[in-house]
Amino acid sequence: MAIQVVPLTEADIPGAIEVIQQAFADDPYFKWVFDASKFNKQRNSDSLTARCNWGIKNALFHVAKETQDPDTQSQTPTPILGVSCWLAPHPPTQPESWYSWFQSWTLSFNQLLNNIRYLGRGGLRTNRYWIWKQRQAEAQAAIWDDPRGYYFCNIVAVSPEAQGKGVGRLLFEAVTKRADEEGVKCYLESSKSVPNVAIYEKMGFHMSKEMECRDGADACMLYCMVRDPRSE
Ligand SMILES: CC(C)(COP(=O)(O)OP(=O)(O)OC[C@H]1O[C@@H](n2cnc3c(N)ncnc32)[C@H](O)[C@@H]1OP(=O)(O)O)[C@@H](O)C(=O)NCCC(=O)NCCS
Repeated sequence: MAIQVVPLTEADIPGAIEVIQQAFADDPYFKWVFDASKFNKQRNSDSLTARCNWGIKNALFHVAKETQDPDTQSQTPTPILGVSCWLAPHPPTQPESWYSWFQSWTLSFNQLLNNIRYLGRGGLRTNRYWIWKQRQAEAQAAIWDDPRGYYFCNIVAVSPEAQGKGVGRLLFEAVTKRADEEGVKCYLESSKSVPNVAIYEKMGFHMSKEMECRDGADACMLYCMVRDPRSE
């Protein structure tokens, strides 16, 4: 099957969210940060919708789907096979632009509206979210030494039926090719050691740091990986 990787559009958002929710259902970080007994799938979906709408304007948000026959194009929507969201490199010495600041503020406001609409965060354990953000800031301060910044893989998910068929590689290459052309490094945090670390090594990443997020007796490991640009 021929697969294309294209920028996310508004019409793709419901399919992209379905892929993310399916792919992350057994994810160790997801299970650690959400209270399963209070998880609200619709609340999570609305939160991801806000993030996708933000990402269309502010991130490198791609979807992978089968290339469509032009004759059937208008009749059936093509199922989404995979999704990725990357943040573009930002030199730490450069201040955030007003546009970017305003967009982040709008996203936070939309998430606040979701909190009000659903009377809560749909099972998100906010204390654990902030533990993760703290560990993440520490890890990035220790690892990120390139003054140009890093392409940061924020989300990558392939639908369970499509995994292991090259979709993830295509999603990665949409950004790593660009990073290679620009000579810029890439960074990700994997929440699974097996099999993801081996998969990301195939994409050119190497392990840089193992990061423990601990809340009392419950801990979650994240694997920080870096990819150096390739010149060929
Ligand atoms: C991780 C993930 C994005 C990878 O996407 P994918 O489409 O399954 O990966 P691909 O089929 O493109 O494989 C990429 C490479 O890894 C290799 N690979 C795939 N599965 C593997 C496995 N289980 N063990 C070792 N290597 C594997 C492939 O052979 C390929 O290498 P090659 O191109 O050199 O032959 C996808 O499996 C996924 O969404 N998993 C669940 C959600 C998740 O863990 N997201 C990431 C959170 S950090």
